[in-house]
Amino acid sequence: MKDTLKVNKVTTHVLQEMKLRGEKISMLTAYDYSHARILDEAGVDVILVGDSASNVMAGYTTTLPITLNEMIYHASSVMRAVKRALVVVDLPFGSYQGDSKEALYSAIRIMKESGANAVKLEGGKQILESIDRILSAGIPVMGHLGLTPQSIHKFGTYVVRATQDQEARQLTEDAYILEKAGCFSIVLEKIPAKLATQVTKKIRIPTIGIGAGAGVNGQVLVLHDMLGISQDFSPRFLRRYHNLYEEIKGSVKAYISDVKSGEFPNKREQY
Ligand code: KIV
Repeated sequence: MKDTLKVNKVTTHVLQEMKLRGEKISMLTAYDYSHARILDEAGVDVILVGDSASNVMAGYTTTLPITLNEMIYHASSVMRAVKRALVVVDLPFGSYQGDSKEALYSAIRIMKESGANAVKLEGGKQILESIDRILSAGIPVMGHLGLTPQSIHKFGTYVVRATQDQEARQLTEDAYILEKAGCFSIVLEKIPAKLATQVTKKIRIPTIGIGAGAGVNGQVLVLHDMLGISQDFSPRFLRRYHNLYEEIKGSVKAYISDVKSGEFPNKREQY
């Protein structure tokens, strides 16, 4: 493992430096103060306030319903906890596609009202005008290619993307377009490891993979998935570091039992 770069605050320039020196970038999602504080103290490089909040926080089956106001609420909670990590916030579905002025307005609201460090948008060439406009306001942009969950109704399924030549070529071209536009990094989601490695070698900006193999510059997972809080999502790429669902349930059952039996509170737990 490479020595880790010692910095007080991770910036987009630090991520670039990490790519150059071959240090892998760690990224996880967070949506609230308490978890963001743990992640930041543990030393994660990037915290993504992902629109996966729509799934794991709000219980929707897709990322589409979450609103800009809800994303700002989550991002503000995260920002109150974070000292070191770079905080990136997803622009939610409907807040940037089709109208680049609205995209800029949405990005400005996120930056102004939450204090976050950057925004992430899903897509390549088709949202270039929005990306250009946001970048022109000095807001750092992270791209997101491959499986883009906001387009799930177009794809129809969550299967691996870009397995065929034509889509792989399009993805590579989109990666060049995002780099040329000035994005500071690109998330590559659920694409063949070989393609992700090729793209990573071709572009200068760091790639962060999720289900994209080991040849990328960093990895991202949804916190609730890697901690085993969410149970109904088990793709091959997911490594679970815990089974918090069962642990929390066990603790809650023990508490209920202690309350019912009168074992809680004991003499030391009262005034
Ligand atoms: O919303 C999210 O959590 C994401 C990651 C899966 C990259 O976009």
